[in-house]
Amino acid sequence: MGVEVFDPFATTIRLIGEPGPAAALRAAGPIVRAEAPAGGPVWIVTEEVLARQALTDQRLVKDPAYAPPSWDRWAAGLEPTAAEQPSLTTLDGPTHAALRKAHAPLLTARRVQGYADRIAAIARDQLAAAAVDGLVDLMADFTTRFPLTVICELLGVPSDRVDQAVSACARMSTYGPDEFGAVMAAFADLAQAALVDGGMAAELRNRLPDGTSAHDLHYLLFGLIFASQITTDAALGFLVARVVGDPSDDLVREVLRRHPPAPFTLWRFARTEIELGGVRLPERAPVLVDIAGINTAGEGADLTFGAGPHYCIGAQLAQLELHAVAGVLAADFPEARLAVPYAELRRVDRGMQGSRLVELPVLLRG
Ligand code: HEM
Repeated sequence: MGVEVFDPFATTIRLIGEPGPAAALRAAGPIVRAEAPAGGPVWIVTEEVLARQALTDQRLVKDPAYAPPSWDRWAAGLEPTAAEQPSLTTLDGPTHAALRKAHAPLLTARRVQGYADRIAAIARDQLAAAAVDGLVDLMADFTTRFPLTVICELLGVPSDRVDQAVSACARMSTYGPDEFGAVMAAFADLAQAALVDGGMAAELRNRLPDGTSAHDLHYLLFGLIFASQITTDAALGFLVARVVGDPSDDLVREVLRRHPPAPFTLWRFARTEIELGGVRLPERAPVLVDIAGINTAGEGADLTFGAGPHYCIGAQLAQLELHAVAGVLAADFPEARLAVPYAELRRVDRGMQGSRLVELPVLLRG
């Protein structure tokens, strides 16, 4: 078993090319014990085969009801328990599978491909607007607004509500009982507005298991909106930083692998005492997979979107959005260039909150 080597959850800022904590974590072993942000031990899986095993192990569950009893929900950034809030990210087994089935046709490769032209048009409009000011920090607004505009349009949230989505997502980084209730109300409002339209939100409602409450539907729609923003936002920064001046087809996959916006999976907890990779984990042991470490180990592994039953439901949409932006930059902004050398770009790693560029100053018209 590994030992605690450093704090992999600390917020740190480093240059884009500087090695991060992933390599040190991996060097400590295939499953490493570290100190959890909310206190007590967490076991981090750093090896691909063991990670895939963990991500399909039914003894490891998402339900925060199994979190260590000493954890403060707010300090740990936990979702409500599955009993309080059934959702894709709190359930496992048949109830999770039923929710996945309801979502299944909405975000398939073929289905999202049908929106490709529209998504490219959104990218074109928003980049053209950003280009007006000359020098622009794309991380300041574009990388957040673009994925939110796309997901709002697909779900049926009216376009004049995108600002509300931007501010609701921004408020998700402060986690406390009051803030959480208020932010959830803002998301519920967006969900309600979407349901008036005949978009994917209404389609999802019609496909959900009988007895799903309006509250539960709102939470699922919140999940789609927030999960699509926090990840794609970060991925866009790393991608655009590479794409300007260097467009090539394989870049999206390569950039995602090298800079996975979710460096760790979400929490899983041992339902009972288990053995994983030769290590005994106590009941309620928290377990994470070190996506960044596994991806960057240089053996072609790719866990950017997870694996197993909780594999990212938006993976096709996210990649389409990234390709759309790369394509629009190449076609409409061939002169675009970074306003600082690539190597001087800084990234912030925020543990479970993910990694993103601090800023991305670009001259879109060269
Ligand atoms: C580059 C962009 C993205 C990355 C890197 C990413 C990454 C991930 C990862 C690693 C997981 C699995 C977490 C775990 O097993 O603990 C996940 C799950 C999920 N993602 Fe994404 N994601 C991205 C974009 C999106 C988008 C665009 C959407 C919505 C349209 C989305 C919705 C979800 C949802 C709802 C889940 C939970 C699935 C489940 O638990 O069954 N993601 N994502």
